[in-house]
Amino acid sequence: MNEAPLHGRVVLVCTAERPPGTKPSCGAAGIALLLELRERIESLRPGDEIRVIPTGCLGACEHRAVVADVRGDGTLYVDVSPEDMDELARRLVSLTEEDTWDTTL
Ligand code: FES
Repeated sequence: MNEAPLHGRVVLVCTAERPPGTKPSCGAAGIALLLELRERIESLRPGDEIRVIPTGCLGACEHRAVVADVRGDGTLYVDVSPEDMDELARRLVSLTEEDTWDTTL
């Protein structure tokens, strides 16, 4: 096994989908959230090294729309609705390299 540096911030968005009638999953809501979040982050910080990546289950399935800020402050955002997108995007881009809040946005 080798190690490689992971540059920039990584934000994971659950897009896991289970068959109907089974345990809840993020599925289509997660995909819509992922695309919207990418767009908003790009508009706030064009070219910034914040990568919004689809991922499998993050273990909070009952909340359906789940975002993990892996390389930032480690927060798991759950129950994310379309009304939350402005605030979420601003939070994700406002952490400085030292992981402190930048209130200038
Ligand atoms: S299916 Fe999204 S957190 Fe489990």
